[in-house]
Amino acid sequence: MTIHARISGLGKYNPKRVLTNADLERMVDTSDTWIQERTGVRERRIAADDETASTMGICAARQALEQAGLTPDDIQLIIVATTSPDGMFPAVASLVQDGLGARHAAAFDINAACVGFLTAVATASQFIATGTYERVLVIGSDVLSRIVNYQDRGTCVLFGDGAGAVVLEAAERGGPMSFVLHSDGGNADKLFAHGPAARPLDADTAYIQMDGRHIFKFAVQAMEQATREALASAGMTVEDIDLLVPHQANARIISATAKGLGLDPERAMVNVDRYGNTSSASIPMALREAYDQGRLHDGDKVVLVAFGGGLVWGAMVVDWAPVGPLRVGQPAHAATLG
Ligand code: ACO
Repeated sequence: MTIHARISGLGKYNPKRVLTNADLERMVDTSDTWIQERTGVRERRIAADDETASTMGICAARQALEQAGLTPDDIQLIIVATTSPDGMFPAVASLVQDGLGARHAAAFDINAACVGFLTAVATASQFIATGTYERVLVIGSDVLSRIVNYQDRGTCVLFGDGAGAVVLEAAERGGPMSFVLHSDGGNADKLFAHGPAARPLDADTAYIQMDGRHIFKFAVQAMEQATREALASAGMTVEDIDLLVPHQANARIISATAKGLGLDPERAMVNVDRYGNTSSASIPMALREAYDQGRLHDGDKVVLVAFGGGLVWGAMVVDWAPVGPLRVGQPAHAATLG
């Protein structure tokens, strides 16, 4: 019998500090009107000095574990998707493992820029499908404010900080039905940020560098293509989508993608107005908000789709099953490790 990877818990964490468009007007030559019209962003959250990808990830993870009805000791693997890790090493996932007290969990990070969370869920679901693990914690956490140049109006209006998490559990149904992941490293120079081990080392390129117009066109085309591929692989069409949860980069990119797909814009989750682009955190944060707004129902077909630096892009079709512990009368877990 196929082992599925049901999403049994969802969590998110947003730092308290709010950076509004009015604040940015005082920092760079921009306007609230321009930012709202060109990006849809009204405000974003900024991490406190003592917050990092690991501390935010731990907060999101606690909420996801609570909803799943699990303790950290139940988790066998932690995968953190991030592009702004606490350090080069150890992995953020190791810091999360220690912070949670998840004594039995293996831990590693994935960096696939804004497609990191999707890539991590694809990876986790295969550990579950093979019977290797039954309970995996996947976190997307990014503190992009640390790699944004707040003198560059072309990038600083877009990004924010946050974390989201999901618990994936072995089950008879629910979870990913299909996914596609793509990469075009030949266009890496269109969107990147160098780290401390880069050569030549240059202060400017430690900050996010972006060809905005190129990325905009790429994003719309890539998200439509990936969505259609993932749907085809699941034997579905656009009509089957109950909710599209796209990477929250720009409201115009989301509406252009929905239009290209012929999808009712009401079926696309949008919260970029309040958080900006939080990279690996954007999809799990949006998922938790969709849940809180009552937009996820048993049996819904949910498409997650993202693009980012790499360049990379991908999509996943998820069969939505109820979150939380399995209730009496529900099918038991399909896989039990010896
Ligand atoms: N305020 C006011 N004017 C601005 C601002 C600003 N914040 N930023 C740029 N402008 C100006 C430009 O200088 C330009 O002026 P000019 O015509 O005199 O040259 C004008 O506005 C238009 O600039 P464009 O770059 O053509 O504006 P566009 O409509 O493309 O919007 C934007 C720019 C918002 C960056 C858009 O291209 C975009 O969203 N691109 C995708 C970015 C993205 O999603 N990145 C993903 C990162 S994912 C990851 O992996 C981290």
